Amino acid sequence: MRGARIMGTGRELPSRVVTNDDLTKLMDTSDEWIVQRTGIRERRYADPEVANCHLGTAAARKAIEKAGLSVGDIDLVIFATLSPDMYFPGVGVLVQEMLGLRNVGALDVRDQCSGFVYALSVAEAYVKGGFHDHVLVIGSEIHSRGLNFSTPGRDVTVIFGDGSGAAVVGPAEPGKGILSTHLHSEGKYAKELCAAEPGFLQNPWLTHEMIDEGRIYPKMNGKYVFAHAVRRFPEVIREALAKNGYATSDVGMVIPHQANERITQAVREALELPTEKVFSNIERYGNTTAASIPIALDECVEQGRVKDGDLVCLAAFGAGFTWASALIRW
Ligand code: COA
Repeated sequence: MRGARIMGTGRELPSRVVTNDDLTKLMDTSDEWIVQRTGIRERRYADPEVANCHLGTAAARKAIEKAGLSVGDIDLVIFATLSPDMYFPGVGVLVQEMLGLRNVGALDVRDQCSGFVYALSVAEAYVKGGFHDHVLVIGSEIHSRGLNFSTPGRDVTVIFGDGSGAAVVGPAEPGKGILSTHLHSEGKYAKELCAAEPGFLQNPWLTHEMIDEGRIYPKMNGKYVFAHAVRRFPEVIREALAKNGYATSDVGMVIPHQANERITQAVREALELPTEKVFSNIERYGNTTAASIPIALDECVEQGRVKDGDLVCLAAFGAGFTWASALIRW
């Protein structure tokens, strides 16, 4: 069977920077609290006329160009997001239209912070199996339109930001590129981090009360999420290494989902890896959910921190709960 590799990456961040001090004008919080608890100093918010599909399309164009391909070469779009432009259809079809792709398939993935790694695993399978040659994988979010900017929402709102990252997956020699992917879920914790309303569990699915009582915003059991994340990240990274016969000392770079700097720090400590081998950019972008890994990967490649031949591990944990990893020989 042939291999599958990431041929090119791209990212698109809105230009509007929102600092912690900006948020203190809207809710009872402080730069000190946010930095100490999360490591976040600023995040980006999209301007009103910018939609998730715009960010995703811009990131995708860069990834296609860096892969040395043209849009006509793309065989399939996979779009991972928890903040779709429309309830339906998914964002993948909007990107297909905006990029002017052939009438290729467009698949949306709904696995939140693990969305990009889940989507990458689908691309890996299609390419390794010979069903598609060039799969465009996008992780992209516009959180800023779905957050509660008053004090009751502060625990969630200060964490999240907007952004988009993309990768093109194409054929590789066997044993090169994506070595393996590992997906997990534990749905009994679905309600610990969710936006359950509006939704079709309710009848009617949307009411005035949901809006008036602020029930439409994401809810997070922060301590619970933290406790599970610091266990699952190291576990799923070790699983990927063990599957391929490697030790943590073989890894050139771990790129974790940028959930919270304290979680990333716990991952470094658990794996006994030095700071420079576990990438972090959360200080500048906050948590961009499905976008955080492809944005970080693109920055790593650009900064020369991921080079040909390096062993790279992507790892994610988030709502669902879901968690996942991908081990890549770059
Ligand atoms: N600014 C100021 N105070 C805040 C605040 C904010 N943005 N958010 C919460 N607080 C307050 C709380 O109301 C609480 O006040 P109280 O003691 O008077 O009740 C106090 O700060 C401590 O809150 P607590 O929830 O115990 O804080 P914490 O140390 O657990 O940190 C998180 C909260 C959200 C930062 C932390 O739980 C976390 O990082 N969880 C993981 C979240 C995450 O990564 N989510 C993404 C998953 S992909």
